[in-house]
Amino acid sequence: MTQQKVTKAVIPAAGLGTRFLPATKAQPKEMMPVVDKPAIQYVVEEAVRAGIDDILIITGRNKRSLEDHFDRNFELEYYLEQRGKHADVDEVQALAELADIHYVRQGEPLGLGHAVQVARKHVGDHPFVVLLGDDIMSERSPVLEGMLSIYEQYGRSVIALMEMPIEEISAYGCVKPERVADQLVRILDIVEKPQPAEAPSNLGVVGRYVFTPEIFDMLERVQPGVGGEIQLTDAIGMLLAAQTVYGFTFVEGRYDTGKKIDYLRATVELAIERDDLGPEFRAFLSDLVRERGWLDG
Ligand code: G1P
Repeated sequence: MTQQKVTKAVIPAAGLGTRFLPATKAQPKEMMPVVDKPAIQYVVEEAVRAGIDDILIITGRNKRSLEDHFDRNFELEYYLEQRGKHADVDEVQALAELADIHYVRQGEPLGLGHAVQVARKHVGDHPFVVLLGDDIMSERSPVLEGMLSIYEQYGRSVIALMEMPIEEISAYGCVKPERVADQLVRILDIVEKPQPAEAPSNLGVVGRYVFTPEIFDMLERVQPGVGGEIQLTDAIGMLLAAQTVYGFTFVEGRYDTGKKIDYLRATVELAIERDDLGPEFRAFLSDLVRERGWLDG
C-alpha cells in the first residue's frame, strides 16, 4: 500500500522545565546545551534526517530564544564575516535554513495531549510525527526512520518503545504488546505512568510518535488523566480501539535530557562520539578513572 508521505513534525516545547531548576528559571529547557548545541537542535536535526522539513514547535511564554536560534542573526554574521570566520558564518546561517519551522503557543499548560491538539490546524488531515524535546536520539540509532518505514508499510500510528527497569516504569506511558516481528509489536493497551505492580509490561513509551490524523479526534474527546492533564497516552488508548497502533522497539541511543543524570550521560556520550572532541575527551576520562582509582577493587 502506498501511504501519504509524512512531511510534518510537531515538537511540544511549552513545558516549564521544573526538573532542571535553577538553570531553567530564565531560559527554556530546550535551549540547554548538550556539548555545544541546544537540546532542541538535535531534535530538529533528527526530523530533518528522516526527511521531514515542516516543523511546528509548540511554545509558550519565555520561549523566544527558540525562535531566535532558528533565525538569521545578521549582527553576529557580520561580526564573524569581518573576522574571516567563514565556517562559523555558514554554521549560524544553516540553522535558519534547516527546515520550515513554525511556532504556535499553547497558552495554558494543560498537558502533552493538549499541546499536540494545538497543532491540529497546522497539520490538518495528514499523518505527522511528534518528537518530545527531552528525548535526544543518537545518530547511531535511526529510530524515526524505522518508525516511518513501518508507517509506510501499514499506514497506521507507530509509537517508540524501550524496555525500562520496572522500578522506573511509573515515569512513562506503558504498553501491553503483542509481538508482530523483530522490533515490531501491536499495542493492545496503554496506560500512563503505572505503578510497577500494575504495569502491563516493562515497555515504556519514549518521545517519538508517528500518528494518523485520527489522533486529533481522540484528543478532542479525551478527559484529563494522570496529574489532571490531557494525556497523549489516553488519546492513544482511544485510538487503538478504532485502528491498529504499532510499537517500534529499540534498545539504545536515547537520552532523556530532562533528567539530570541522563543529561550528564548524554553530554559525555555525545562528546565521545564527536570527531573534533572525542579523542581528547576520551583520554581525559580514562585518566580521570585511573587517577580516582574507580576501577581498583
Ligand atoms: C511524557 C508522556 C509519557 C512518555 C514520556 C517519554 O511524559 O506522557 O507517556 O512515556 O513523555 O519521555 P513526561 O516525561 O512528559 O512526564
